[in-house]
Amino acid sequence: MPDMTQTTISIRTAQDADAPAVIALWQAAGLTRPWNDPATDYALALAHPMARVLIADDRGRDGHSPVGTIMAGYDGHRGWFYYLGVAPTAQRQGIGRMLVRAAEAWLTSVGCPKAMLMVRSDNAAVTAFYTALGYEAQAVTTLGRRLDGR
Ligand SMILES: CC(C)(COP(=O)(O)OP(=O)(O)OC[C@H]1O[C@@H](n2cnc3c(N)ncnc32)[C@H](O)[C@@H]1OP(=O)(O)O)[C@@H](O)C(=O)NCCC(=O)NCCS
Repeated sequence: MPDMTQTTISIRTAQDADAPAVIALWQAAGLTRPWNDPATDYALALAHPMARVLIADDRGRDGHSPVGTIMAGYDGHRGWFYYLGVAPTAQRQGIGRMLVRAAEAWLTSVGCPKAMLMVRSDNAAVTAFYTALGYEAQAVTTLGRRLDGR
């Protein structure tokens, strides 16, 4: 697989104007779910001082189109990743790795000691991806409860 990460990919912090392109990318990468409105998720993250959405731009594509994203947030104890996705036509070229490393660097810069993420236990591909980057499965059950009445 050609490695284009050294030449045409750059990572930057997402801005409000990136919303349509980022949401389209989330949809193309299969990251959206019926119970989460992606526009609301995007706006909440951009408005929060301890969250970032990072974008991988491909300068080799028309209009520097985004080819990948990751959302990271620091809760004061751990850092969490969400919405990691690379455009289907740009996968397995090192872009996902670049995004995770950039998100780790941001978490480190704000004093966060550990990065965490949730992946469905039957998602072998994403588990293999994070394992390749040094992440280890943890014996926990994730519980959740909506606080917004939805
Ligand atoms: C997961 C994802 C972001 C990985 O991005 P990517 O740019 O393709 O990954 P990289 O090229 O940086 O891969 C780095 C390493 O991870 C491992 N890896 C990546 N994808 C893999 C796969 N499908 N199966 C097994 N290992 C994989 C490999 O070791 C790879 O190195 P190699 O290509 O030299 O063998 C991408 O597949 C994606 O967008 N998937 C759909 C969205 C998704 O499921 N996101 C996660 C939600 S929890």
